[in-house]
Amino acid sequence: MTCRIGFVGAGNVAARHARVLSGFPDVRIVGIADTDAARAAGLAREHGTAAYGDHAALLRSERLDAVYVCVPPFAHGQIELAVLDAGLSLFVEKPLALDEATARRVAAAARRRGAVTAVGHHWRYLDVVEQARRLLGDRPVRLAVGVWLDKVPPVPWWPRRDGSGGQVIEQAVHVLDLARLLVGEVTEVSAHESGHPPDQAEGAVGAATGALLRFRDGATGILGATCLLGWKHRAGLEIYAEGIALRISEDRLVVDTGAGRRVIVEAGDARRRVDRAFVDAVLRRGTDVRAPYDDALRTHRLACAVARAATSGAPVRLEDTDG
Ligand SMILES: NC(=O)c1ccc[n+]([C@@H]2O[C@H](COP(=O)([O-])OP(=O)(O)OC[C@H]3O[C@@H](n4cnc5c(N)ncnc54)[C@H](O)[C@@H]3O)[C@@H](O)[C@H]2O)c1
Repeated sequence: MTCRIGFVGAGNVAARHARVLSGFPDVRIVGIADTDAARAAGLAREHGTAAYGDHAALLRSERLDAVYVCVPPFAHGQIELAVLDAGLSLFVEKPLALDEATARRVAAAARRRGAVTAVGHHWRYLDVVEQARRLLGDRPVRLAVGVWLDKVPPVPWWPRRDGSGGQVIEQAVHVLDLARLLVGEVTEVSAHESGHPPDQAEGAVGAATGALLRFRDGATGILGATCLLGWKHRAGLEIYAEGIALRISEDRLVVDTGAGRRVIVEAGDARRRVDRAFVDAVLRRGTDVRAPYDDALRTHRLACAVARAATSGAPVRLEDTDG
């Protein structure tokens, strides 16, 4: 059995997924669409496949099982709805969209169709996350501290709020997803935002965001993000419960129980596993999709709530609904 996959968006992250997928013996990349013809042609050439100018041409021309949607935040919505309308499985890179309404529409369509979906929250496949979960056991978490301290990524759409949605929606969403996984759902957020990255005009994203999160089970959370640095400084989540401090990032887990620090280096390959799990689900061989669209919608709603609280200055409550 072969899984026939198409791509919409042929940029950085698409190239990464295509590289991973092309190493799977049961996958064929059968078409790549990008509104930038040179980009579609470049990635298509690398994988010996056809290039298209938009998702509609890809869907019209190829027999597909699944589509990877790897476009910037502003371009989500119509593409996913068309993929679902065609009865195909759907992999979407985070963030789901610029706003909540678009993602809710896609989630509703996916639910109606009973589609296999997955979102690129690959941190959920880190071994160190599993280890952190085991170490915590059933100790209630009291404090979670998330950070994303980075540069402005070198893609043209990122510095504009109507391109990326801002740093919390676009980047810190990985940390918020981890916080939901390890600490639980958030019921209320307040936040503050400060400044803009240098040389950015009207409509630019914030330069720094600080947020306070209230978790349903009583834990407190703090999130700090900035894009003012010229390098990726640190991104991850610290978790504190009685007698244990954990610091999780993409490459390691630092554990402190008061008897010295233990550093566990990440040994798995989460970026491969996220694709493998999706393909297995599409081929009905596995059930290890850890962030289906509906679940990622909850993380996206949380990121949107933080962004809204930061721009409005008023706390935002997250009602407990799926719809
Ligand atoms: N999970 C991760 O680790 C990870 C890593 C990198 C990027 N991402 C996410 O992936 C998304 C894309 O990032 P990137 O770095 O690949 O960006 P990019 O700018 O390199 O690529 C995006 C591509 O989408 C194309 N595009 C835009 N609108 C389109 C449309 N309507 N139809 C078809 N193609 C369209 C652009 O022309 C561009 O080639 C972002 O949301 C980013 O956050 C996730």
